[in-house]
Amino acid sequence: MKTTLIVESNIQFQDFYSINLHTWIGANCVLKDDAKFAIEHLQKDPSSIKLIITRAKVGTERSAEAIYEYLAASKLEIPIIVIGQSPLMQKVIVHIKSALEIKALIQAAAKALNVTAQEMAEAQVDDYFPIPIQHFYLIKQSICNVFLEDEDQPKQFKLFLNELGDISATEIKILISNKVSYLHVEKINRLKFVTNINQEIAAKLELKDLNEDEKTVALEMSLSLLQEKMQRMGITDETVELGNRNLRGMVQSAKNVPNLKHLLRRLLKNKSGYQYKHSQVLMFVATQLMDQLDWVNKEQRDKLQFIAFFHDIALQNSEQARIHTKKGLREANFNSEEKELVNKHAHLSAALAAQYPNAPIGVEQIIKQHHGMTNGIGFSEHYSQNISPMAIVFILAEDFVDSLMYAEKNFSITKKIAIMRETYTTQRFQKIINALESITI
Ligand SMILES: [Fe+2]
Ligand SMILES: [Fe+2]
Repeated sequence: MKTTLIVESNIQFQDFYSINLHTWIGANCVLKDDAKFAIEHLQKDPSSIKLIITRAKVGTERSAEAIYEYLAASKLEIPIIVIGQSPLMQKVIVHIKSALEIKALIQAAAKALNVTAQEMAEAQVDDYFPIPIQHFYLIKQSICNVFLEDEDQPKQFKLFLNELGDISATEIKILISNKVSYLHVEKINRLKFVTNINQEIAAKLELKDLNEDEKTVALEMSLSLLQEKMQRMGITDETVELGNRNLRGMVQSAKNVPNLKHLLRRLLKNKSGYQYKHSQVLMFVATQLMDQLDWVNKEQRDKLQFIAFFHDIALQNSEQARIHTKKGLREANFNSEEKELVNKHAHLSAALAAQYPNAPIGVEQIIKQHHGMTNGIGFSEHYSQNISPMAIVFILAEDFVDSLMYAEKNFSITKKIAIMRETYTTQRFQKIINALESITI
């Protein structure tokens, strides 16, 4: 058995490690809240543990170092993966900066446990994949059908829950008391199911407990979850709660970085996808830009932040979010349904904003017009005369951010501003371009 000892006090992270190690490398986990308990476990049963994954620090305890010293003193040769900054980095130990870096974590764990890529692929031969039953407490609905193995006939499965059917915690409890350890999903749905669980876990994490890298990844994961849920369920108590958390997190994140460069570097380092990156950078640029304008009050700044967060909420992925022109949409490799969604996304996002409780007044209109079309359908580079000053700020901020995203390292603010001055010739646009010129990159 590839038993891994996890040293982590946060229950959400404990779930996260368990389900991912189980799914991707078939490892089971022993969970301990801190090094003291982990060492107690190692004293009792050292030989069963094949890998240790530990936080650098749990509270004030320097957990990784405590475990490292214990292993050295007891002459135990168990590989360690440390999550977060630690002085052990000098020694030959694997470090992962953020616990949410699933890929890096799984690769490091697979290596330490001598699981090859081929073994990982071959291990998944059964048609039904077992998911430890306790993970079903984390979700209210399952995004695919869930099956229960027949008690009397092993390998025979019956449908337990329909795709998107409500999960009852009481029912799960009863199954657990009847000694059921796993529920199953079809092999083909395994990735989708685990990704959804990961997002649910990320959305429940308290951002204040996370390091900056973890925050970035958690916000991106929970934004994807929010989009998927908004499209599936529309505006409900659940999506609004998730939306509010996400908005707060992204506003906070934009506030806590010293400059744009720093933010971009962090997003790059955490391999953020276009869609999240675009909204997060836009939030930063729009906020900075608003701070430069003398007619702006707090209410208007909040409004623009809401728009940066919400304007593309109806889209499903980064490929769709990259489209900003008619030509781009025509040439995109999308099916007709997707093309229709992208074409109408401003209208659809505005309709969701209109139903969103306590959304700032007027956001619906600006979201609808964010691609220059008054009805929110299609894309245009021409803006009508009666567009509001707030809408102008947003359109300019988005244009600026798009160029920044595309050009990446080759971005020149001077060149971009010059192009913008030629594109948007009216006085009202030019004034805001002046302000844009003075934001700190
Ligand atoms: Fe956008
Ligand atoms: Fe858009």
